[in-house]
Amino acid sequence: DWNMHDFAEKTIQEIKEKVGDKKVLCALSGGVDSSVAAVLVHRAIGDQLTCIFVDHGLLRKNEGDQVEETFKNQFHMNLIRVNAADRFLGKLKGVSDPETKRKIIGEEFIRVFEEESNRLGKMDYLVQGTVYPDVIESGTDTAAVIKSHHNVGGLPEDMEFSLIEPLRQLFKDEVRKVGEELGIPEEIVWRQPFPGPGLAIRVLGEITEDKLHIVRESDAILRDEIRKAGLHRDIWQYFTALPNIRSVGVMGDERTYSHTVAIRAVTSTDGMTSDWARIPYEVLEKISNRIVNEVDNVNRIVYDITSKPPSTIEWE
Ligand code: XMP
Repeated sequence: DWNMHDFAEKTIQEIKEKVGDKKVLCALSGGVDSSVAAVLVHRAIGDQLTCIFVDHGLLRKNEGDQVEETFKNQFHMNLIRVNAADRFLGKLKGVSDPETKRKIIGEEFIRVFEEESNRLGKMDYLVQGTVYPDVIESGTDTAAVIKSHHNVGGLPEDMEFSLIEPLRQLFKDEVRKVGEELGIPEEIVWRQPFPGPGLAIRVLGEITEDKLHIVRESDAILRDEIRKAGLHRDIWQYFTALPNIRSVGVMGDERTYSHTVAIRAVTSTDGMTSDWARIPYEVLEKISNRIVNEVDNVNRIVYDITSKPPSTIEWE
């Protein structure tokens, strides 16, 4: 794509001139926007950029390793991965209200990010993956508006940074094209939207390691089968949730009393409204069989067939 090729070249040049020999910090989430923004800046200034990737332990299966592998080993970026799962899970212990979970995760994210960036000493600029719809949404066009880091609640307001926001004029599909121009792997460029609080809002109610395990493993199976069926670019979001219901089942001569896993898959253009995806029965059958066979403590699978509105995409 020539337009996006030109855009990338021009932007890299501009960043070079703006930054000079100064130091730049980036909060990398592994999502499309922050990834493309980070790679653009890295192309411009190389090792003057340091990225902090906070792994809150609520990511999908293998996601943290994939982010590290891609940006550290493939792109040779200065990447600090902070494994903070214990901290986040500790704070979330006993908490079941969805908005409280979000708030805790957002605040803890800021704390971890702040601690890590303090360790690095003075940084001059902060990279933000702000895209055009964020600019419109925030209702202002000043650089003072800091995009909430993958919307978990934003970065500290008292941090003194000048912002670098290379994607401010782009829509999502353009960001993806720039990402392809830059050679970012398909799994990242075409990644489905993933909420900042991650799996915490897909385990309904209180979060435990066991429940996270069920949602993480079942979600990996779902994603694998959707990809094999070639549906991954047609469905806006597809994931599993753990409704926290247990019901009776039967295995051999024994009755079981185990978890229900819900499959959620929706079509949408912007996430504001959505319809449930008409996944072929054969694909659903395969997913269902695999989850009950491969994931312990699951004996029932249900498919969510509500649109938004009146439902939401997530279950919490
Ligand atoms: P709902 O569930 O409200 O979600 O239909 C609309 C879109 O927003 C995502 N979502 C979130 N993203 N932090 C985020 O960064 C959140 O707390 C959050 N809650 C929902 C959801 O995945 C969908 O894309």
